[in-house]
Amino acid sequence: MRKLRTKLLTPLTPDAAVIYKDHVIAWDDAGISYIRRYDPALDSDCENRRDQLCLPGLIDVHTHLSQYRIRGAYEPSLLSWLDRHVFPEEARSADPAYARSVADEFFQALFAAGTTTSVIYTAPFHEACEIAFASADASGARAFIGLTMMDRNSPPELIQNTDYAYSRSVALYERWHGQNPRLDYIFTPRFALSCSAELMAKTARFISDRGAWLQTHLSENLQEIASVLKIFKASTYTQVYEQLGLLTPHSIFAHAIHLAGSELDLLAENNCRIAHCPDSNFFLKSGEFNYPAFEAKGIQIGLGSDVAAGTTLNMLYHAKIANFRQSVHSLKPQRLFYHLTLGNARLLGLDERIGSLEPGKEADLCFLKTPPIPDEDLLAALCFWGHEFPVTETVIAGRTVFSALEG
Ligand code: GUN
Ligand code: ZN
Repeated sequence: MRKLRTKLLTPLTPDAAVIYKDHVIAWDDAGISYIRRYDPALDSDCENRRDQLCLPGLIDVHTHLSQYRIRGAYEPSLLSWLDRHVFPEEARSADPAYARSVADEFFQALFAAGTTTSVIYTAPFHEACEIAFASADASGARAFIGLTMMDRNSPPELIQNTDYAYSRSVALYERWHGQNPRLDYIFTPRFALSCSAELMAKTARFISDRGAWLQTHLSENLQEIASVLKIFKASTYTQVYEQLGLLTPHSIFAHAIHLAGSELDLLAENNCRIAHCPDSNFFLKSGEFNYPAFEAKGIQIGLGSDVAAGTTLNMLYHAKIANFRQSVHSLKPQRLFYHLTLGNARLLGLDERIGSLEPGKEADLCFLKTPPIPDEDLLAALCFWGHEFPVTETVIAGRTVFSALEG
């Protein structure tokens, strides 16, 4: 059992968070045992972390593992960025040794940034995806991981045939779903431009029978949208996914920037989830996510790094950019913090297990060294420059996966 004397910050709702000053948090691999005010009579055996802040482990609902090394590779528009930087880099993961070194580097970087749960696209090779799972399993990560499917309009070194894309995804699902309580498979058609209707429809049938997870990109870029509408002879992008059966409560759509009102209705009616990736939207000049419109429809929104179009895995940085990327609507610190923690956990159906600091929840924790800031200003400071606060320790399901304190 670990027992630390520290300050805690935990979300309560989208609009409220609470600070517990000078408290003790105790956990083991079964979960958080208790959180209570420090009592010298009971707690003299605590590790002293009074210069630190304990948060729930941070959650990233959209990221690309195989792109980790090309963050910041410059090209200010989605389709040419994919051609020039992303596809050549993902092709390198055809080499298992390369895929392994990227995967190990990626999970270490996640933990060093305080991220404990992530939703991941891998390169479009079965072995690269298997390697990502093996790395997550060995390192102790909590993750949803999917083989990126692409059987159309893709470069020869990446393109899969339809049967490979489908059957390898199903094999990975069968191998990893239910295998480890921290890991799950997520079906990952890259986007409508790179997937055939046949592949997406087959995938939709498989996931809807089982309630399996699915992720893809939706309406990120105007050129992308025009091509999708032409290829599928559709009037909206969301309708393409709807007609193929991809709109489910376990479907996470990244970006969703340029949508008509009818598309928001479809997403709301089907209880779909949105991964909002503001840094990526800035970097690729994709446009501005209409946060208030999604909120008004009650659609669940999560925050994602979208590395490599997002330039960092640090989710505290993405909280800041989520505020900055709205030109009029200002997201409050409480809301930003909720998205990084309990909100993202809820989006993934994990809010009973993780996302806040409560006895009985699994111990996914992030400790940060904080400058001397009055408590009433701490949450805003965390959201606007918390990415500068050094992470001292990251814990997943009670196991320390990163420590800057050793030695
Ligand atoms: N759309 C299709 N593939 C990608 C990708 O890898 N990154 C982003 N940002 N958008 C995409
Ligand atoms: Zn993405």
